[in-house]
Amino acid sequence: MLKIEKNTVQETLIVPLYGRKMCAEKFPDLYADRSAKLLCESLDYDFSAQEAKKDTFFYEFGALEAAMRQLDMMWEINDYLKRHPNAAVVNLGCGLDQTGRACDNGACKIVNIDFPDIMAIREQLIPAGEREANIAADLKDHAWMDKVDGTQGAIFFAAGVFHYFKTEEVKELVLTLSERFVGGRLIFDTVGKLGLKLMMSKTLKHMGIEDIDGFFYVQNPAQALNWSEKIQVSSRGYMLGYFDMKRKGIRPAHRILAKVGDRWMKMAVNRMEF
Ligand SMILES: C[S@@+](CC[C@H](N)C(=O)[O-])C[C@H]1O[C@@H](n2cnc3c(N)ncnc32)[C@H](O)[C@@H]1O
Repeated sequence: MLKIEKNTVQETLIVPLYGRKMCAEKFPDLYADRSAKLLCESLDYDFSAQEAKKDTFFYEFGALEAAMRQLDMMWEINDYLKRHPNAAVVNLGCGLDQTGRACDNGACKIVNIDFPDIMAIREQLIPAGEREANIAADLKDHAWMDKVDGTQGAIFFAAGVFHYFKTEEVKELVLTLSERFVGGRLIFDTVGKLGLKLMMSKTLKHMGIEDIDGFFYVQNPAQALNWSEKIQVSSRGYMLGYFDMKRKGIRPAHRILAKVGDRWMKMAVNRMEF
């Protein structure tokens, strides 16, 4: 069994992983992938807190958040691969997420990047396959970019990762990517100021971060992400911008909360074309 330490940035991978497991169990019409369940079973991690809450309305909503985010990312990756079938599909802060494989068209190159301790666990549970590379790195040290072959296109995606970055750190990463991977695309999710306060501050506190000043949030993507005239920015609602969530088992109240999330918490999925 592989241990995930409590109260670390790395532990944040548990939330979306468990969310995807729950979603596959509760809402299989929306999200059918059972791999998260197998991964949860392979980890030495006490899931009792999650198990105790799993039938509550808000916890179910959290699971839907994890699934919708992955479905949104997959939509974008599949769209990019239509025109760049041999591109690199790069999962930034991958945790134990297998979106790259879920979008594998038989020709693309899959790259997964996370901190060394997470990649050591990932290597054991999900060893890199053919056309796949696992890179152990801190995303803030841009040296990892040397290892990505973007000659036939590159789509980068960061799911639930930039909330742990300062705005300046995201900007530096984005500008470097845009210079080095012209023709590439970056997809990432954001929340607004209220979303950061209500949804992220507790997680950051658990990691010993009391002061959330300077952490990345986006109120208005077109304005806030206007970092370079060479980058085209567009964005959609995170919960309902790609799919309407009208599926068996999803309650009308979940969809209402999804609207609140997109409209008031400014939950968004942003696309940058380099
Ligand atoms: C909320 S988890 C999301 C994991 C995955 N993207 C998913 O959707 O399941 C955040 C992930 O980002 C990784 N991460 C955060 N900051 C990072 C950094 N500076 N460099 C590399 N990975 C980082 C964490 O280790 C963790 O695996």
